[in-house]
Amino acid sequence: MTPRPAPAACETGGGSGPALTQVCDFRSKTRSWEAHADLVVVGSGAAGLTAALCARELGLHVLLVTKAGIEDGNTRWAQGGVAVVLDDEHDKGDSVARHVEDTLAAGAGLCEPDAVQAILHAGPKAVSWLRSRGARFDSGAGGLLARTREGGHRAFRVIHAGGDATGAEIERALVAQSAGLPVLERHIAVDALLTPRGEVGGLVVLDPHGVPGWLRAPAVLLATGGLGQLYQATSNPEIATGDGLALALRAGAPAVDLEFVQFHPTVLYTPAARGRCPLVTEAVRGEGAVLVDGAGTSVMRGVHPLGDLAPRDVVSAAITRRMATAPGGIDDHVFLDATGISGFEGRFPTVYAACRAIGVDPTREPVPVAPAAHFACGGVLAGTDGRTAVRGLYAAGEVARTGLHGANRLASNSLVEGLVGGAAAAEAVAADTAAGVLADPRQAKDRERVVPVAERDALQRVMSRYAAIGREADGLAVAGAVLDLSVRNSPMWTHREVEDAALTLVAQALVAAAARRTESRGCHVRGDFPGRDDESWQRSQVVRLSPSGQPVLADPVPKGRAA
Ligand code: SIN
Repeated sequence: MTPRPAPAACETGGGSGPALTQVCDFRSKTRSWEAHADLVVVGSGAAGLTAALCARELGLHVLLVTKAGIEDGNTRWAQGGVAVVLDDEHDKGDSVARHVEDTLAAGAGLCEPDAVQAILHAGPKAVSWLRSRGARFDSGAGGLLARTREGGHRAFRVIHAGGDATGAEIERALVAQSAGLPVLERHIAVDALLTPRGEVGGLVVLDPHGVPGWLRAPAVLLATGGLGQLYQATSNPEIATGDGLALALRAGAPAVDLEFVQFHPTVLYTPAARGRCPLVTEAVRGEGAVLVDGAGTSVMRGVHPLGDLAPRDVVSAAITRRMATAPGGIDDHVFLDATGISGFEGRFPTVYAACRAIGVDPTREPVPVAPAAHFACGGVLAGTDGRTAVRGLYAAGEVARTGLHGANRLASNSLVEGLVGGAAAAEAVAADTAAGVLADPRQAKDRERVVPVAERDALQRVMSRYAAIGREADGLAVAGAVLDLSVRNSPMWTHREVEDAALTLVAQALVAAAARRTESRGCHVRGDFPGRDDESWQRSQVVRLSPSGQPVLADPVPKGRAA
């Protein structure tokens, strides 16, 4: 192994609680430092920070690990808002029951109704907790919170902040509350420490210099977000590389519904769009904008009763079809005509600034848009309380598959899931700690690790070409073969290797699940099986790792957690 430079110091956000011991063994690939906590939270978005704050309020010593800066998660990019029925004057005529119905309809038969009920009923309390911790949402008529509407919602029930900067406000409020919380920034989680009985007892992480350390804790909560970087164009930031999902699979946890990757219908299109592309929130359509093709013809007319506000899978697929049948050959974008919205700049300042940055004035001309990878509807199988099948391992937010989203997430249901799930996971950890059912982290050990790692650019190209919207058996076979052939074995000694190993494993699992599902459902669109919602496929697929580290598929999904 190449000798590593010694770090100046291990960084924490300060505060009392977890102990950090420098072992000073920088030239060895073995652990060089160690820290202890009751709970290690990985990720600093809505779910992770909520969990960390709630767990601290419950008296646990929490250590938060995040692979970038504390504010750099995916949450801060969320625009539209938080879908929640608050039962005030505004919501007369709406109800949580209708929100549940809309969620189940969008989820195309694969939601877990109990999870949907539990999470959406807990939404108002979570929003009130967040507001009591300083989050400020936009007000509308009569001093009530303003509401907007997004795809698949039959009512205006999406609250928002800063116009279209809802995630940024939530992140700001949660970060402000986390003063004194010990935080390891720019530390990446590599693998779980496991006891001989397969329970989680902590994590191996790499510090900013790539020096490995051990975080010993009887409970680890993954709140690592999504996997948009599997694709060339995504609304997700560079950090969304599926690390938590890969770590959970390697720790023995099953993952579910991985084939359902939601493509947001409208990110801002530029010819060389790569990596994170600015989102054009669906709320723009909620307030009247329409999708048109290059000839100015409506994309959504006659496609779905909700028109431009159909669920996302329907809109993204319609745009993809329209692009493929453009006069003169395949086109790579359509347009969003928002010129009829008055006060656009004030209502959507983030979108407005992004448009102006590419020389488009959305108040005067249609905005070029295209679908891009946005959200993982599947993930680590977890209860609504975050418990997974592996004792000591919890998951919340986008990395978790609670059953809320099914085959297609309803717009703006993810921030509410992160807030509710983060709080519930903190309570579950506190309860499991009090009940004495968690493992003794001193029994947990590291393992030798050599894992397949594909070259990222090649991976993103084959995933975008063959495993995005419109998949077919032949293309998925090509993607699987390219992934298998382009890997090298690597020990994950750098942040980049950890991310690339995660992308590789998650891509392999996703391609296997997508190839096996021979129907179209939700955001899984098969060109060779266009028939939708085949009854014999109304079941989720479970992915686990074989002893040799290969993703293997099974079904049906076990109800709730197996632990
Ligand atoms: C949007 O604002 O369109 C995105 C919101 C979401 O993905 O839930």
